[in-house]
Amino acid sequence: MSRPILVFDSGIGGLSVLGEIRKLLPQRQYCYLFDNARLPYGELAEAELISGCVNLVVTMAKQIDAAIVVIACNTASTLVLPELRAQLTIPVVGVVPAIKPAAAISKRKHIGLLATPGTVKRAYTKELINHFADDCRVELFGCSELVLLAEAKAAGQVIDIEEIARLLQPVIYSELDVLVLGCTHFPMLRSEIQQIVGTGVQLLDSGEAIAKRVKSLLQYQQEPTSLKQIDNERAFYTSKDITEGLKSTLAEYGFVQTAKTSTSVIESNGG
Ligand code: DGL
Repeated sequence: MSRPILVFDSGIGGLSVLGEIRKLLPQRQYCYLFDNARLPYGELAEAELISGCVNLVVTMAKQIDAAIVVIACNTASTLVLPELRAQLTIPVVGVVPAIKPAAAISKRKHIGLLATPGTVKRAYTKELINHFADDCRVELFGCSELVLLAEAKAAGQVIDIEEIARLLQPVIYSELDVLVLGCTHFPMLRSEIQQIVGTGVQLLDSGEAIAKRVKSLLQYQQEPTSLKQIDNERAFYTSKDITEGLKSTLAEYGFVQTAKTSTSVIESNGG
């Protein structure tokens, strides 16, 4: 048995990335960690996001003897990767908005980035745009409400398509032809978003690219001789409790064992 792949997000969004990784690496073992006590990350102060996230991920990666860490969250990746790489010896892969491929395929040279308010204002995102999309008009749409709607859908609640349409009004009225889903929660609402923006707008996310990166990194990683055995795949969350609806969504992704983490970070947050 190989060591698990640790996938991290603030909530259920990282499951969209995990799904893509699993398509390429179905035999590997996965552990899913999500910081739902502090969600939405897009509204968190940067310093708070970095310290909490680094503590949580480093503690869990060591605890489960992870082979690789995937920060399946754009909002966190644009901030925490250097610190995580400094603290861990295993590879750490992050997800950043698919600006580069979007600029390359846009015929109108007019693209949009739909992401969290945190991601759209990051220096990292601006650099990405300057570097890879300087021949395009790029419109930024920051939205945390969609994150909460994706969470509600994953918790088994009926979500209101009119509400999504209202949130996407600025996208509908722009003339762009490629919309980057720069938050891992948004592929969970792909069909609803596509229905609202129409087939003339191509939706792009980074899930597949991240999966290829993880596969190529693990290909060259030497497994240690003594492996820690984990019987079942586990999902860990940080809030006090999660709904039965969310538990069944996690079970659909193979996570039948779910547990609240008990790292010092979370305990000190009163979670
Ligand atoms: N799923 C996350 C992302 O990719 C963050 C959502 C949030 O907690 O605001 O940005």
